[in-house]
Amino acid sequence: MPSNINARQFLKAAAYRRTCYALTNTSKVSDERIVEIVQEVLSFAPSSYNMQSARLSVVLGKNHEAMWDAIIEAAGPILKEFGVWDTMKPILEGSRNSSGSVLFFEKETTIHAAREAHKSAAHMFSELSDHASGMHQILVWTALELEGLGANLQHLNTIPVVEDIIKNHSGFSPDEVTLFKLKAHLNFGDEVGTHPTVPAKLALSETLRVVK
Ligand SMILES: Cc1cc2nc3c(=O)[nH]c(=O)nc-3n(C[C@H](O)[C@H](O)[C@H](O)COP(=O)(O)O)c2cc1C
Repeated sequence: MPSNINARQFLKAAAYRRTCYALTNTSKVSDERIVEIVQEVLSFAPSSYNMQSARLSVVLGKNHEAMWDAIIEAAGPILKEFGVWDTMKPILEGSRNSSGSVLFFEKETTIHAAREAHKSAAHMFSELSDHASGMHQILVWTALELEGLGANLQHLNTIPVVEDIIKNHSGFSPDEVTLFKLKAHLNFGDEVGTHPTVPAKLALSETLRVVK
């Protein structure tokens, strides 16, 4: 079936996505529509050997607030110890004040099984899983912004205790989530102010070669 959008339209849509930190805890997009977008991404996003290791969770409402309260309480002392609390505090508080999050996990047992099934590429699978997760992330991020929300991608799972807190709020059972690795999470909400512009990029003379 030929696509009814062209590359110019696709790239224009993709280029609209930005990191938006100024969010509110409201959403002009319904919960149902947000879930539908995430379902649609899961229905077509690629993965290495189609292994489908992605597990996603949409965290909304009171559960989202409770998750952020617990993250801030646990991360505060650790970030203070590392001397980055003053920088991180407004980001964390901004995240708490967003309307919801999409959590991006990878199921490690699926990755182990793929290693067994495709032995010649076995050493590549944790990287390949990261790539596939990134593809799910950019698709959800872009689609939510095209629908009218702002969003930002976070990696607070650098702090192990925070990963556990996020897992506990994911809606997956403890037995399921223990098999998962959190890769990223995307906060979203209504945007405050104007949509950010593309940040400065390196010259193409540095980042691209074309050879014939
Ligand atoms: C792989 C990846 C990881 C990122 N991790 C974080 C993060 O942990 N926290 C954060 O605030 N932004 C994070 N970002 C957002 C980047 O800082 C942002 O994409 C970059 O500055 C370019 O701005 P743009 O998103 O508006 O294009 C991440 C982006 C990517 C692609």
